Amino acid sequence: MTIQFNDETFRDDYSFHNSEWAIKRFPFPFHEDSYMYSVNMEQHRGGPDGSVFEKRFDVDEHYVSEMKDRALVLADDPLRCQSLPHMTLAGWDLLELIMVSKSEDYPDLFELHRDGNAWRWINKPLGIDHSFTFLDEATLPYGPMEYITRQAQGDFAVLDQRDDNLWMDAGMVTTQADWSLDFDIGMNFFEWHAPVPLAHEKGIFVRALKFLLNIQQGSPARRLNWTMTVNPLLDTSPENYHKWGIQKTTLTPENIGAKQHLRVELQTFFRLPRSNALVFPIRCYLCSFQDLMTVPKWGRRLHRVIRDLPDELATYKGFIDNRPLMLDYLSKFDDGLPTSPGI
Ligand code: HEM
Repeated sequence: MTIQFNDETFRDDYSFHNSEWAIKRFPFPFHEDSYMYSVNMEQHRGGPDGSVFEKRFDVDEHYVSEMKDRALVLADDPLRCQSLPHMTLAGWDLLELIMVSKSEDYPDLFELHRDGNAWRWINKPLGIDHSFTFLDEATLPYGPMEYITRQAQGDFAVLDQRDDNLWMDAGMVTTQADWSLDFDIGMNFFEWHAPVPLAHEKGIFVRALKFLLNIQQGSPARRLNWTMTVNPLLDTSPENYHKWGIQKTTLTPENIGAKQHLRVELQTFFRLPRSNALVFPIRCYLCSFQDLMTVPKWGRRLHRVIRDLPDELATYKGFIDNRPLMLDYLSKFDDGLPTSPGI
């Protein structure tokens, strides 16, 4: 299908909006009426037509505006993109993975022509037509990871694998849920997950790491994660907490439907061929409460999940203070009927 790209902002006047199509395909993350952390991993081998799982790297109506927002964040803070010197080869691997996937999955939007190492990349939505030499950094305006992730929605953590662990040695992180690449760079899997409550004692990270270390090339995996964001902000980084944290105090019963957004991350995991690195794209989808409530089963279920979520998780996810307001709003959409398992 041809995608109509929205002209919208994720800051200032917040003109971000979801079309009916985007609401319908929103990855609602709850398959039952309660939520607890788990090793919720599955194969990333396509999904229902039109769903966000269908393609390897989903492109949607927010693509062009998200890329503009990324450029603004980087202009303000170049440390949102970092790559330690040994990660350049992984950057090339990632560039190849994204270019090949996008040109195969969206041939009307992206083209890749290859003759040996002489490559030509055409990105129609962003107006790019660029010939370069694969594996020769001098022929690109940025390093390979930065070049391609300025053209791909979502954040990217690129992990080096050594000593039976994963190390956050490169990344492009401008749309994150309150964590910092600059703080985490060089950390391992257990170190960067240290702040997460309840999951360590349940053994979740030990099992998750085992799974990740064994991911093979051509067999990507995925999981969903979620949190809450007031206003459709992409950049909820610790670096800018002074700008967005205060906005959490602006919710009222009148504006909560429009302002409060469920923020869902589609997290995928791909093994990279030459470097044996693992890439972790984190794709953020935002949907306002009022748009979510247009799907009655989502309204019922969200109320129950938020009501019964352990305090530790509501605190970590940063909405414990607003939970009573949320529940007042959401309870109106819960008629008490049973929900069926699944989404
Ligand atoms: C949170 C990175 C894989 C489970 C986080 C955080 C980061 C992160 C940076 C935020 C920590 C903070 O508060 O500072 C990554 C990376 C991964 C990865 C780079 C890939 C290698 C996984 C996997 C699981 C997982 C496979 C499976 C269970 C979690 C959970 C949280 C979390 C439960 C808390 C999220 C929330 O409540 O919003 N992760 N993670 N992570 N991660 Fe991971």
